[in-house]
Amino acid sequence: MATIVVFGGTGYTGANIVREAASRGHEVVSVSRSEPKEPVDGVRYETGAAEQVAPRVVPGADAVVTALSPRGDMAGRLVQVYGELARVAAEAGARYLQVGGFSSLRPADGEPRFVEGEIAEQYRQEALEGEATRLMLVEDAPKDLDWVFVSPAGAYVAGVAGGRTGTYRVGGEVALFDAEGGSNISGPDFAVAVVDEVETPRHHREHIGIAY
Ligand SMILES: NC(=O)c1ccc[n+]([C@@H]2O[C@H](COP(=O)([O-])OP(=O)(O)OC[C@H]3O[C@@H](n4cnc5c(N)ncnc54)[C@H](OP(=O)(O)O)[C@@H]3O)[C@@H](O)[C@H]2O)c1
Repeated sequence: MATIVVFGGTGYTGANIVREAASRGHEVVSVSRSEPKEPVDGVRYETGAAEQVAPRVVPGADAVVTALSPRGDMAGRLVQVYGELARVAAEAGARYLQVGGFSSLRPADGEPRFVEGEIAEQYRQEALEGEATRLMLVEDAPKDLDWVFVSPAGAYVAGVAGGRTGTYRVGGEVALFDAEGGSNISGPDFAVAVVDEVETPRHHREHIGIAY
């Protein structure tokens, strides 16, 4: 059993990860500024700003998962907050899994990342900020931090159909596509992949992508 701290544990991504990890018997701490609407049994919910709660909850943890989103009053703040969470995780000797965006992936080997090309206006700010958080890890993460940057598939949003199948594929920084050219993953299956990576660390200081 591991102790896993999920920052943003009441959001779309984080709540799925919290639920998956708790169902496997892990000790789970969720951090968010507001109380959960649907608390999961056995999960410890801490409320407060991530960087303020971190020094209290991260020491002693085996893994830290960060799933905040750069929306609303968090727009423009993710690099700074994640930088601080990475620092606290490194100090605690905890593994650090940071959720990013699909657009940080590449369409093919050697090609520019999606975020370097045209991005629809409604996704642009979030894509650029997600990419900045990837660069923060690559360029500035503490040397001894065991980090993984995890990009979900292109179609990965609350409300998209799809429950837990327990299946997924793990790619590197080149996006995975299915036979129809689609890039999909459900929230619950993305969570399965993240918790599998916590239980069995296979990637170290790497960018991975999760899709069917
Ligand atoms: N296809 C894609 O590439 C794709 C699609 C969707 C999401 N994503 C990425 O996945 C990540 C997570 O997105 P999401 O949609 O799951 O997020 P979300 O549903 O908006 O959830 C964000 C969570 O973070 C918490 N939070 C925000 N700011 C916080 C702070 N300062 N301190 C503590 N908690 C804070 C929120 O709760 P409170 O507001 O109560 O604090 C909530 O629990 C993002 O990086 C997003 O870009 C990628």
